[in-house]
Amino acid sequence: MKVLVPTDGSEHSMKAVQQALELAEKQGAQVTLMSVAYYVADYLEEMPPNIREKLEDEAKGALKKGKALFEAKNLPVETVLVSGLVPANLILQKAQEGKFDRIVIGSTGQNALDKIVMGSTATKVVAHAPCEVTVVR
Ligand SMILES: Nc1ncnc2c1ncn2[C@@H]1O[C@H](COP(=O)(O)OP(=O)(O)O)[C@@H](O)[C@H]1O
Ligand SMILES: [Mg+2]
Repeated sequence: MKVLVPTDGSEHSMKAVQQALELAEKQGAQVTLMSVAYYVADYLEEMPPNIREKLEDEAKGALKKGKALFEAKNLPVETVLVSGLVPANLILQKAQEGKFDRIVIGSTGQNALDKIVMGSTATKVVAHAPCEVTVVR
């Protein structure tokens, strides 16, 4: 079973990583962690390189944090860093192209507001995924 875990380093995304870790341990799932460094469309062209770098560093940090949990248990894991405009679209594209069997995603992320049940990335992924989706609270 191929499992895709989109992570932004947030609390709920780390819970998703943890669930995928259990699938790797118990069912031998092949897990890929994916983080999207994303930009606001209007400013893409004029965005200073150091801002881009900062966003990429954040995405790399999220991957590193997740990868460490697998390494601690000597389990293999792949990591993918993608840059773009809309994380959900890139996650859906990856799930399709990589023929993933399941996406394990957090219910909310870095922009979480207290009362929000599910963030926009998670909502879009659930609505359009080509495979099973587990939403982790
Ligand atoms: N930039 C991103 N790259 C990869 N995964 C992401 C990204 N942003 C959000 N996610 C995934 O989507 C989940 C829900 O986040 P999101 O829908 O963006 O909520 P919020 O609106 O609170 O930020 C996160 O826990 C994470 O699993
Ligand atoms: Mg978000």
